[in-house]
Amino acid sequence: MRLVLSAAVVLALGVGVATARQEVRTGPAAPELEHGKAVYAHWCAPCHADSMRLAGTNSLAVKYQGTDIPAALEDRTDLSAPLIAYFVRNGVSWMPPFRRTEVSDADLAALSAYLTAPLDDRGAHVPLLADEMAEMEASR
Ligand code: HEC
Repeated sequence: MRLVLSAAVVLALGVGVATARQEVRTGPAAPELEHGKAVYAHWCAPCHADSMRLAGTNSLAVKYQGTDIPAALEDRTDLSAPLIAYFVRNGVSWMPPFRRTEVSDADLAALSAYLTAPLDDRGAHVPLLADEMAEMEASR
């Protein structure tokens, strides 16, 4: 019920509210989503995390300009498992197709579960690779 209500509030109040909700996401993902979140962090976030310097996020910002669809995949609530599977196995534009030796069918199922889960269950955004590299540099 809480989820239905919060979805209704997001729809009613529009993008501003959706953005504010994304910014306050913290903590780990729900335990059953951890595997999918790790797959996302490794294979997808390097192009799809929330930075306009990334190829996927930048392209999708252009594609969905003027709509309330977020550019970062991790913030989308409109994706379905078949659509995710299609793009992961076929690629598009700069996005390569991923082999089963890279993203297995089990990984893909977990990834889809993560990207279609309620936002509140996804926990904090995965860090940008650039952030991780900056932290590694700083801790040397
Ligand atoms: C090398 C960069 C790159 C990587 C890595 C990458 N993508 Fe993409 N992805 C893109 C680009 C660029 C587009 C947008 C193409 C376009 O302009 O339509 C895209 C588009 C998509 C779309 C279509 C969304 C839409 O609404 O049109 C999905 C879904 C998607 N990617 C999922 C993934 C997933 C899941 C992963 C990880 C397994 C991943 N991508 C990894 C670059 C990447």
